[in-house]
Amino acid sequence: MSILKIAKFGHPTLHNKASLVENIAEPSIKKLIHDMSETMIDARGIGLAAPQVHVNKQIMIFRSFEAIEEKNDAINITALINPKIKEISNETENDWEACLSLPGMQGLVKRFSKIQYEGFDMNGKVIKKEVEGIHARVVQHEYDHLMGIVYTERLVNDKAFGFSEEIEEYWKKNE
Ligand code: NI
Repeated sequence: MSILKIAKFGHPTLHNKASLVENIAEPSIKKLIHDMSETMIDARGIGLAAPQVHVNKQIMIFRSFEAIEEKNDAINITALINPKIKEISNETENDWEACLSLPGMQGLVKRFSKIQYEGFDMNGKVIKKEVEGIHARVVQHEYDHLMGIVYTERLVNDKAFGFSEEIEEYWKKNE
């Protein structure tokens, strides 16, 4: 496995729509998912999309949220290929997001509270789930990367964005 280079905000690759994976069984896809997992863990992320590592394919990975909620240290990663998402209701939530392509920054983003997603795992098996909260948020964030959208394009307001230290000090303390 190897650690991949993460594209930083400003790199045009982050604004390209990714292509569908045509052959999930191709060994290079499994290798890419393993390398993306290693890269995400190394960078202490909770989600990563292939365009962020300069691969124009519709693949995302994210940490298991059950494990995060239970404060269980075991690292369990889901890979989702060629995903589709849809909201279950119109209900939305605003919360702070960060991104491995914008290290040290945070922005306040509105997302649907509950979504359904559907796609394939790396063995070609269908994954279909209804999720909410942080799980729904991360999947929407990573899905945006596959569509060439970075969270800065979805800020609740233009000023709700900045360096984490300042956000913690001037925004979160007053929430
Ligand atoms: Ni991101």
